[in-house]
Amino acid sequence: MAAPKILFWGADHAGFELKQKLIEHFKKKIICEDLGTNSSESCDYPDFAESVAKKVLDNSGSLGVLICGTGLGMSMAANKVHGIRAGAVSETFSAEMARRHNDAQILCVGSRVLSFDKARECIEAFLATELDIENPRHLRRIHKIQRIEENGATSD
Ligand code: RB5
Repeated sequence: MAAPKILFWGADHAGFELKQKLIEHFKKKIICEDLGTNSSESCDYPDFAESVAKKVLDNSGSLGVLICGTGLGMSMAANKVHGIRAGAVSETFSAEMARRHNDAQILCVGSRVLSFDKARECIEAFLATELDIENPRHLRRIHKIQRIEENGATSD
């Protein structure tokens, strides 16, 4: 596993239990920082997406995991934070490609979609993979994402 410096975690009420179980597992392998939520009481996923996204940006080389019911709301919210690339996945191939091709810093999973083992496998695949810097087309495409973020549109 190519361990990041810190793995930041966030979940809403739907993802709380799965987050606790996953942190219990992953803290044996990497430094984990839990940014909440801390109970199954109803809360709003964008709050945790924002916290994790900001921490990831502030800590170079770190990565994040966000868990809500589907992973979708978390990914939508995290991707609104300038500089963040977050992807919601349900299987290991996409988790791996999120790093290799898209250089995603945050993986989002759904507690109502994946079992503990499937979510664990996706996170392991994400952590074990680096951006493929040998291939300039991936960097070119990531730069185009950044240009959309800066300007709202690509010019070529
Ligand atoms: C909460 O019920 C649910 O809407 C949330 O966890 C998430 O799935 C949203 O995308």
